[in-house]
Amino acid sequence: KPMKPNITINSTDIIIENDTVVLTCNTEEKDLRGIQWYFQNNKLILNDRMTLSSNNQTLTIMPVKGEDNGAYQCEVWNPVNASKSDSFNLTVVYGPEQIRILPEPVNDQIEVTFNENLALECQANSEPPAQYTWQVNGSSMSENSGNTYTISQASWEHAGTYTCTAMNNVTNATISTSVTVTVI
Ligand SMILES: *[C@@H]1O[C@H](CO)[C@@H](O)[C@H](O)[C@H]1NC(C)=O
Ligand SMILES: *[C@@H]1O[C@H](CO)[C@@H](O)[C@H](O)[C@H]1NC(C)=O
Ligand SMILES: *[C@@H]1O[C@H](CO)[C@@H](O)[C@H](O)[C@H]1NC(C)=O
Ligand SMILES: *[C@@H]1O[C@H](CO)[C@@H](O)[C@H](O)[C@H]1NC(C)=O
Repeated sequence: KPMKPNITINSTDIIIENDTVVLTCNTEEKDLRGIQWYFQNNKLILNDRMTLSSNNQTLTIMPVKGEDNGAYQCEVWNPVNASKSDSFNLTVVYGPEQIRILPEPVNDQIEVTFNENLALECQANSEPPAQYTWQVNGSSMSENSGNTYTISQASWEHAGTYTCTAMNNVTNATISTSVTVTVI
């Protein structure tokens, strides 16, 4: 059986969306007959940003995206047997993007019945996970950080514009969205 290969990346830094990364399958096998890459435990299907070197030893991703995040493995063959590497976890910093507030607004409005509770949930795609803050009618609600803003026992004064801002604390990039809450 070949010795277990291992995967290295040509970067020691944080990897940010749109960087170019090169993953190398390192092997000491002298009688190498083939290399197969895996992503999330399935045979890797190359996307249009990925290229393999002629012997499959290096995988170049240019530019790298958040959807490339996950566990990579490589498997090497000699004439007798095959051996698979441990997982290499690729973490690409990206986002926040695709922000939304739930429950699904209708015409940018969410209704709450007088005296009932409403939990507004903010979601955005990001690596690392986004940090959320809320504004109501343009004023920061510092006590309401976290991705959920709860209105308890809604009264008429709770109506207004609720804005969620998601921040990526590595890149400091932010994205916001607003909904109008109406009390009925
Ligand atoms: C990794 O290799 C690619 C392609 O050669 C290069 O563009 C990139 O700058 C390299 N990254 C680092 C951190 O050396
Ligand atoms: C990566 O490139 C895309 C397309 O050009 C751009 O929209 C995006 O903002 C870039 N991401 C970063 C982190 O620069
Ligand atoms: C950045 O955000 C992540 C995920 O929310 C968190 O685990 C981490 O501690 C934060 N880092 C800093 C420096 O605030
Ligand atoms: C937001 O502004 C509207 C219109 O001025 C007001 O009726 C409402 O009470 C405000 N909501 C909050 C939560 O301050």
